[in-house]
Amino acid sequence: MSLFPVYPLYDITPVKAKDVFVYDDKNVEYLDLYGGHAVISIGHAHPTYVDRLTRQLKEIAFYSNAIQNPLQEQLAAELADFSGCKDYQLFLCNSGAEANENALKLASFHNEKSKIIAFKNGFHGRTSAAVAATDNPKIVAPLNAQQDVEFFELGDLEGVEQALKNNDVCAVIIEFIQGVGGLDESTTAFYQGLEKLCKTYNACFIADEVQSGFGRTGDFFAFQKHNITPDIISMAKGMGNGFPIGGILIHPDIKGRFGLLGTTFGGNHLACAASIAVLDVLKAEDLLAHTKEISAYFLEKASQLPQLKSIKGRGLMLGLEFDFPISDLRKNLIFDHHIFTGSAKNPNLLRILPPLTIQKEHLDIFFEALKTELA
Ligand SMILES: Cc1ncc(COP(=O)(O)O)c(C=O)c1O
Repeated sequence: MSLFPVYPLYDITPVKAKDVFVYDDKNVEYLDLYGGHAVISIGHAHPTYVDRLTRQLKEIAFYSNAIQNPLQEQLAAELADFSGCKDYQLFLCNSGAEANENALKLASFHNEKSKIIAFKNGFHGRTSAAVAATDNPKIVAPLNAQQDVEFFELGDLEGVEQALKNNDVCAVIIEFIQGVGGLDESTTAFYQGLEKLCKTYNACFIADEVQSGFGRTGDFFAFQKHNITPDIISMAKGMGNGFPIGGILIHPDIKGRFGLLGTTFGGNHLACAASIAVLDVLKAEDLLAHTKEISAYFLEKASQLPQLKSIKGRGLMLGLEFDFPISDLRKNLIFDHHIFTGSAKNPNLLRILPPLTIQKEHLDIFFEALKTELA
């Protein structure tokens, strides 16, 4: 049987990984500044994580959502405490798209409206409503295109208000820092304006923190810098450090009832154990403060590159923008220097999404390689 050819693959076969390094089948070491697409938060094969998952696997890996699962309660309590989102409720699922799909669906249940407002260059996943709210017609099938979605430029409060006036919008969904799109972030005034408009016109304000959450920006969630209280917050990626888990945090004003949302695998024992281990390591190693410190070092080093057009993003969710397409540069970094980086919808932007455990000496390796390539 052949694999359905939807992914263009690099000819590299990772077989093991440790902290910020990945090793291929020829034992070549790669520095991971990509984190498997912002997924690896506490480093590959972290001993606390491996131990917690191994113990859980030997006890119980999965049952169903029809029984008591104290690990879900523990995860909710730890998440409330560490994220600062104390009064929110937690619903667990399996991926970022599923988190956004549930967020949008819940918004629609809550206010009984159905139109979505989303933003140019945004990415929210590939399930039905999530992909419809993603600004990329190439990945929206006719089936998904039936959703009523209107896209606005970041910053266009007037346009959003005009659309909200029709009173048919269930949700405004936004990434506070755009990931796939290319690290753009708007102003606090814009985000606070959106929040106010959502309240005025009874629409749910959804913060898509799938990529930016779980400490990646140095704050637990990226929206926290802007002093916002979203109605729903979606999470995934860094939440499980590679174990598939997603979830939404739901404001206490939104009430649940049996059967409203559901999933077979969401919140299973192994997934909860993985995410609890992630939170434990983030806390024990003070990785949010570390992220800010390392980010400052990265920005300082990057600012010394004369070829650079701009630096975007925050924490360890960063983009280096050049005035030429970066695809060859990215290839050379992988094959000649053994460094993984990421690309974006913006063809001139190199994305940097390393494990949050990365150290200055690792960044020095990257900047040496980059200087050689840019010379
Ligand atoms: C901001 C954002 N939302 C949602 C998703 C979709 O997540 P997943 O691929 O886990 O479905 C992504 C994935 O890149 C993302 O970056």
